[in-house]
Amino acid sequence: MATWIDYLIVFLRIVRFCVDYVVDLIFSLIYDRRPKAVIPPIDKPFLAYSGTKLAKLIRTKQLTSEEVTRAFAERCRQINSILNAIVDERFDDAIQDAKKVDEFLATTDMSESELAASKPFLGVPFTSKESTEAEGMSFTFGIISRKIQDMKGAVDSNVVNLLKQRGGILIAVTNVPELNLWCETRNNVFGQTVNCYDSRRTTGGSSGGEATLLAACGSAIGIGTDVGGSTRMPAYYCGIYGHKPTADLISTKGLTFRAGNETTTMVAAGPMSRHAEDLVPFLDVLVGENRSKLKLNDADLLGDDGVLLFPSGPREAPYHYESFLRPYNFAYWGIFNALKIPATNVPMGFSKNGLPIGLQVVAGPYNDHLCLAVARELEKEFGGWVPPFISN
Ligand SMILES: *[C@@H]1O[C@H](CO)[C@@H](O)[C@H](O)[C@H]1NC(C)=O
Ligand SMILES: *[C@@H]1O[C@H](CO)[C@@H](O)[C@H](O)[C@H]1NC(C)=O
Repeated sequence: MATWIDYLIVFLRIVRFCVDYVVDLIFSLIYDRRPKAVIPPIDKPFLAYSGTKLAKLIRTKQLTSEEVTRAFAERCRQINSILNAIVDERFDDAIQDAKKVDEFLATTDMSESELAASKPFLGVPFTSKESTEAEGMSFTFGIISRKIQDMKGAVDSNVVNLLKQRGGILIAVTNVPELNLWCETRNNVFGQTVNCYDSRRTTGGSSGGEATLLAACGSAIGIGTDVGGSTRMPAYYCGIYGHKPTADLISTKGLTFRAGNETTTMVAAGPMSRHAEDLVPFLDVLVGENRSKLKLNDADLLGDDGVLLFPSGPREAPYHYESFLRPYNFAYWGIFNALKIPATNVPMGFSKNGLPIGLQVVAGPYNDHLCLAVARELEKEFGGWVPPFISN
């Protein structure tokens, strides 16, 4: 027999449907008449490769780190006027770093497999959020008073340092919402970042600069941070991979104000990439000395433990500012921060409006390898990342 609760649920569903309908109508009337920006195609196929593949081509001297780094810097310049994803860059220094990598490779007597093991991303350009400290780079979190003081990173955060130690070359830092505290990437210092699949829509947040830049081939791999969906949500809106690792495994030193000595936290830095094959080696770099707590070597292999497939969000990337009317949608991601368990966004094709959609693959604590193994299988089956530009 139906109780008053049942009637209440039906009533609330009708209210929700009407609210969504009106919100969608208003925003589509505002935005749909505006043209979408066109993302130019890449002129060098390797700009679309995974970080893992680029590293292999560099260490086997089929590509030089210099030509790869120059090409990404050029690509960044080309697309940033559309995306507004990059807020500070070190292209010239990065090219010098790349030349040193090429010199090292010309003279080293290390074997290819030794190089792959000790420096899996040798010579590969990467990006990171402006709110994650990097030596000499803008470090304002989108706060005007910090911009007035011209705040720059004094040292590298542990995660940026770890990736540099393993051969990565930082080329730029990317935009975030003010203090990372919103699900759209917009602030009063650097303005608004747009989604590369539809510039009228948000790239998500807080790792929104990373997601749209990666999806448009402006960077090979990127370091996200995730306290309530901040890696997975923009990855979902921009059709790439983003993994939030098990909590308390990766150093938080240098993530906004964090000193790394906080006892327990929901925030976790995590890998973002166009290709699932980067997730395991990239996570392996970020966990550093804690790698023994994960079974990453067991990831392409599924054990007896299960995974949960969970929607990556209730809808495709909203129009700019639309999220103010649906602020609680972030619960789709935030729940897994509260539970401190690993979750990966996997791109799974497009909505009828041509925007990326996806799934979260969720596993128990320390079972990150299961998420990443399933991500690779889904990529094989469903195709994964699709460029936001016409490619031949
Ligand atoms: C390793 O994990 C511990 C707790 O699980 C954490 O306190 C420490 O910061 C981690 N180390 C690194 C290098 O991330
Ligand atoms: C953590 O480290 C910072 C900077 O070194 C220090 O100011 C702060 O007091 C420390 N906090 C705790 C809880 O130890």
